[in-house]
Amino acid sequence: MARVKVGVIGAGVISNIYLKNCTGMWSQAVEVTAIADLVHELAVQRAEAYGIAKVYTVDELLADPTIEIVLNLTAPAVHAALNLRALEAGKHVYTEKPFALNREDAEAVLQLAEARGLLVGCAPDTFLGAGIQTCIKLIDDGWIGRPYAASSTIVMGNAWDGLHPNFQNFLKLGGDPLMDMGPYYLTALIAMFGPVHRVTGSAQQLRQEVRVENPGSHAYGQTVPVSAPTNVSAVLDFDNGVVATLQATKESFGYMPRLEVYGTEGNLVVPDPNFFGGPILLRPAHGEPREVAYSHPYTEDSRGAGIADMAYAVQLQRPHRASGRLAQHVLDISLGVFESSQTERHMTLTTSVVRPAPLPLGLHHHRLDR
Ligand SMILES: NC(=O)c1ccc[n+]([C@@H]2O[C@H](COP(=O)([O-])OP(=O)(O)OC[C@H]3O[C@@H](n4cnc5c(N)ncnc54)[C@H](O)[C@@H]3O)[C@@H](O)[C@H]2O)c1
Repeated sequence: MARVKVGVIGAGVISNIYLKNCTGMWSQAVEVTAIADLVHELAVQRAEAYGIAKVYTVDELLADPTIEIVLNLTAPAVHAALNLRALEAGKHVYTEKPFALNREDAEAVLQLAEARGLLVGCAPDTFLGAGIQTCIKLIDDGWIGRPYAASSTIVMGNAWDGLHPNFQNFLKLGGDPLMDMGPYYLTALIAMFGPVHRVTGSAQQLRQEVRVENPGSHAYGQTVPVSAPTNVSAVLDFDNGVVATLQATKESFGYMPRLEVYGTEGNLVVPDPNFFGGPILLRPAHGEPREVAYSHPYTEDSRGAGIADMAYAVQLQRPHRASGRLAQHVLDISLGVFESSQTERHMTLTTSVVRPAPLPLGLHHHRLDR
């Protein structure tokens, strides 16, 4: 298969692992040929570190006819606008999450892509890792009987330690716990159970501003506004009958994730969907809990699996797994949870999605297709 040429927009923190993997483990599928960032110097640094031939402005990158996929690693507030520009320029798009900040922007991106015959993909792609793919196989093969419930918790420290160069983005909508961390858990749940039809939620914003008290921060001593919920509880009703809870907070300390699935014949402790691997614990109805071996590869940070899978989709004319429609459904769930909290009602969703196909067994090293 010919490699698909990728231009990266956004050379910030997360670009490092994408560039490492897209020029390494996923380089049978993609070839990164150009990079751009508003901060030109950052793009230059990344190009030097990962051997990328061209450093462009965004306009130059979009005008390069050799680039087939734009990989959008910018801040949440500009994802949708840049994705629209890339599609207008005739490129497929793979974007970091959140897919958009509102339903209108998400739908506009998908409709433009469909009208132009272009593909849209979106992070997270951690559900393509060994952890979640093995759990999907265990559930599909009946090891816990019929799943009826799941409990997911993402509890982490606050963003106001100010250590991220643009930590302010985590204090706004899009960087809040539900929109920033929720996609890992929601996407994993959809990959296991399929779509959600109803959500209920309660969202809290515990503070209006924060003072950066970490002397290690470039913003030490500054007071910064908070404009999004920092603690959210949700109940999700899946089409397949599973009722799941999701707790998403950045008001806590340290990092304490948890995802468990309960079935009529056993329980499953699922690895943290923020990562590709992690211990899997099966507790059968009769017998002791035991750790289960992986059925699938990719336990290390394999970010870029989603765009690599999309490159196969471009070349082989087959669906890709970390799709825009999946991300739109995740966004719809998150916005529905906020709306439920505001209106004090259950929210019935208007979007749905086909569960992404599990990865086949026995794939060759660093391949996502046969
Ligand atoms: N940092 C992480 O650990 C992490 C992990 C997973 C996903 N993400 C997601 O990745 C995205 C980027 O996160 P990050 O941590 O790398 O942020 P970052 O702030 O470090 O990087 C974003 C980069 O985008 C550039 N940028 C912003 N607007 C632009 C525009 N209009 N045109 C060109 N460049 C522009 C900025 O200059 C910056 O260098 C976010 O959506 C985030 O949710 C981050």
